[in-house]
Amino acid sequence: MSKNQQADSRRSFLIGVGAFSGLAITGEFPSLSQTKFSADPFSLGVASGDPLPDSVVLWTRLAPDPLNGGGMPPSAVAVKWEIAEDEQMKKIVQRGSASAAPEFGHSVHVEVRGLKPSHWYWYRFMSGSAVSPIGRTRTAPAYTARLAHLALAFASCQHYEQGYFTAYKHMADEQLDLVVHLGDYIYEGGAVSARERRHNSPEIISLADYRNRYALYKSDPDLKRAHAAFPWIVTWDDHELDNNYANDIPEDKQPRAAFLERRAHAYQAYYEHMPLRRSSLPRGSNLQLYRRLRFGDLAEFNVLDTRQYRTDQPCGDGNKPLCPEALGPGATMMGAEQERWLFENLDKSKTIWNVIAQQVMVARYDSGPGEEIRLSMDKWAAYPAALDRFMKFLHERKPSNPVVLTGDIHSNWVADLKVDFNDPNSAIVGTEFVGTSISTGGDGMDMRPDVERQLPDNPHIKFYNSRRGYVRCNLTPQRWQTDYRILAAVTKPDEPISTCASFVVESGKTGAVKT
Ligand SMILES: [Fe+2]
Repeated sequence: MSKNQQADSRRSFLIGVGAFSGLAITGEFPSLSQTKFSADPFSLGVASGDPLPDSVVLWTRLAPDPLNGGGMPPSAVAVKWEIAEDEQMKKIVQRGSASAAPEFGHSVHVEVRGLKPSHWYWYRFMSGSAVSPIGRTRTAPAYTARLAHLALAFASCQHYEQGYFTAYKHMADEQLDLVVHLGDYIYEGGAVSARERRHNSPEIISLADYRNRYALYKSDPDLKRAHAAFPWIVTWDDHELDNNYANDIPEDKQPRAAFLERRAHAYQAYYEHMPLRRSSLPRGSNLQLYRRLRFGDLAEFNVLDTRQYRTDQPCGDGNKPLCPEALGPGATMMGAEQERWLFENLDKSKTIWNVIAQQVMVARYDSGPGEEIRLSMDKWAAYPAALDRFMKFLHERKPSNPVVLTGDIHSNWVADLKVDFNDPNSAIVGTEFVGTSISTGGDGMDMRPDVERQLPDNPHIKFYNSRRGYVRCNLTPQRWQTDYRILAAVTKPDEPISTCASFVVESGKTGAVKT
């Protein structure tokens, strides 16, 4: 545990036992509102995200009764924030006040400006006499900086009931510049008995339901620790709303209007609980989540949303051969506007690495034995027109070193991206690293027998592992190294972490190589 984390947990403890008067700082802030809380209003911790060279988003949400709607009065409450250059919060560089409004669940999103590039900062919030834990964050390098190194971890799929979030405890101890989350931050299903932990309601539908579910997940101490340690860049997948939904089409036969209302609730609750900028404010049932972040001349991140604008899963979803309806040219994962945006970004990019952080597997995986072709209808391969446009773009326009980061399937994969996945001799146009789940699926195993049998039918897939954990990436101008970090179990707490495999991509060469 670092000094910062020790200070962090000490403060959490003080607040946790209700020692608000001991931390009173009203003398320092005479204008601070005299809000009295029944319990620690910072129970969901703090977070930061979307780092720019001069700016970062600081997040918290006031929730003294987090699992029952938050426990706040139906009025706006002032929240002071401060950001410092040291973990003792002595060298404060900026402070200000934000309003935690009931319309947004008393969440706080502060977009601090005027910060130094490539710089660590510490931050905290205060309201009434309550003080939040201290979080640490880091700005991006200047856009013109020649960056020698960038370290990140990416994660996805954290089913609360199916395991402990131990991976995050280990992630918080890593030396990283940022964390990327690829979705399934919550799961929407109802409580199931006989699991490690319990969901706090039946399937979530209303805004109050979604808020309480986020609060349950965010009460996890390991998740809080990882948020407090690094800035996060987040995107969602399906379970932040509804399993395998596509745009305005739900998994079940919910009427469209009712589903869009549910989508508005889910998207709003997502915004309320994530360190997002105002550019991602929800507008009814829409939320602009796809965006681009750059880290000097080293890497640009295109963060995608392949749920909100996609066409429906073809052939009635599931795992099957492609039916004729899948083959139409209208198939899209991103929608026309986002696709144009992505291709333009990649075309104009001047960075050495071009990261595409997104949800579902791009590389085709045929799970049908022998001659039979079976594909998951939720993934890129079931949208052949969209996949072709993407792979042909990479082949023809050749953006520098494209690397796709993927979540969704609760397992680790390394795949060559091919201009034609049906032709083993076709060109490799990039690399895809698929990261396993934090907890979804329970303990898992190293190799699933069905996948092992199918690997010879999928020669572009170079690695598979089905344990839980996260993926660590170290980038330099010369090479990208990916380390698959796994736990032996998540059904019991405090398991150690280890690296089960490492792969390297050399800049200018296509294809990842096992080290
Ligand atoms: Fe998942």
